[in-house]
Amino acid sequence: MSRNYKLHTIFPSCLYVADVENAAQINKTMLPHIYELREQDRKNIKDPELLSVFENDVWSTYFSRPGTGLINEPWTRDLQRAVIDNTEQFVKLLQLDFGKCKPHVTTLFANIHDKPYHRHDAHTHPGSMFSGTYFVKTYSGAGKLRLVNPCRALQFHEFSYHEDTELNVNEVSLDPVAGRIVMFHSHVPHAVDRPTAGGERIAVAFNVLYR
Ligand SMILES: [Fe+2]
Repeated sequence: MSRNYKLHTIFPSCLYVADVENAAQINKTMLPHIYELREQDRKNIKDPELLSVFENDVWSTYFSRPGTGLINEPWTRDLQRAVIDNTEQFVKLLQLDFGKCKPHVTTLFANIHDKPYHRHDAHTHPGSMFSGTYFVKTYSGAGKLRLVNPCRALQFHEFSYHEDTELNVNEVSLDPVAGRIVMFHSHVPHAVDRPTAGGERIAVAFNVLYR
């Protein structure tokens, strides 16, 4: 065994987590609008069978307002500012150089998980650079945000570990915290797990591109 050695961390997957400073104001502004949008979606459904599906599924503006989603809603402006500020901070930490290009929020959609079986399978956001979630309302036991190793070879190669550390695990789960923003490269698969207690988990997901 060598006495002189060093373990290098190469090709890391970076996860940015920050508590937004004006979160209380952002949440107070956005919550009534999010509830109102859900009510509008509910009223637009006339078919009782579809209404039953609506009442049971995770509610998301991803379906009723596809494409850019909520980015043109004035009540999302402060959140978009926070997303941009934090993207710039993340990019600075990563030492990325985008030249004269600026970050733009390209998609913004709200989701409500409020049933014990509500979850969201692992997925990525192709076509974006950075993706993430801002938590508007959470509770103890709300579904965790789970991030999966984007290295597919490791996803299917199950090693056993003496101890879970950031150097070896292939999945990382985070408890949602109201007012917190979480951001990662858009190719990183992520999921929302089922809750372990009853409550309402409201999050706004976003994509960012430099152009
Ligand atoms: Fe997502």
